[in-house]
Amino acid sequence: MLNFKIFSNNFQIVTSSNSQIDYMLTIKKVDITEADTLLAFSKKTFYDFFAHLNDPANMEAYSSVAFTEQNMLEQLTNPNSDFYFAMLDNQLAGYLKLNFGDAQTEFKDRNALEIERVYVSGEHHGKKIGKQLLNFAIEVALNKNFNYVWLGVWEHNYKAIGFYEHAGFEVFSSHEFLLGDDRQKDLLMKKKI
Ligand SMILES: CC(C)(COP(=O)(O)OP(=O)(O)OC[C@H]1O[C@@H](n2cnc3c(N)ncnc32)[C@H](O)[C@@H]1OP(=O)(O)O)[C@@H](O)C(=O)NCCC(=O)NCCS
Repeated sequence: MLNFKIFSNNFQIVTSSNSQIDYMLTIKKVDITEADTLLAFSKKTFYDFFAHLNDPANMEAYSSVAFTEQNMLEQLTNPNSDFYFAMLDNQLAGYLKLNFGDAQTEFKDRNALEIERVYVSGEHHGKKIGKQLLNFAIEVALNKNFNYVWLGVWEHNYKAIGFYEHAGFEVFSSHEFLLGDDRQKDLLMKKKI
């Protein structure tokens, strides 16, 4: 059961878990003053989900470039990228990164939206937070009259691939993702809207 309340930059969703407990989910745009929180959360979730599947040196090599204060500030001030926090009962539970125009990592199609990141803390998986973040991204793309949303996902991230397929995304291509010196393959998936 979902019930949307939309405020200027904040989107509140009351959602029910399987156990019928109501959660208040707020999707709010990340402000530059929250750069430290975003940096800590994005680094933590990246390690939580991918450290055990990758070489520690490659994780460190990637993180030392991707998860720095400077890099985070550059992303947050890019006019073609937006970050959002998913707040569950006022607790940070997930985040989303959207890229438009030239900020997209491939194609730069002006009529498309890239979902570069969608992460939910492990303890909150299965509460439909990922789904709300995905729906929110699709809503943003619809409001801009875009034709499709797309994303890249590691070919071995089976859980996320299943999640995207369940939401109607289809594989249309692939690209290389460099984690340290490990050349990984990302599947590119898209959903027409
Ligand atoms: C992938 C991820 C975002 C999913 O978020 P979540 O909040 O746990 O998922 P939700 O509870 O919103 O699931 C929504 C729907 O997808 C379905 N779903 C979830 N995972 C699925 C899977 N692997 N296969 C099929 N369906 C799946 C759920 O059953 C649910 O279906 P319903 O709405 O019909 O009941 C989350 O697992 C995550 O953060 N993973 C780690 C980070 C990551 O890999 N991010 C993607 C990087 S590209």
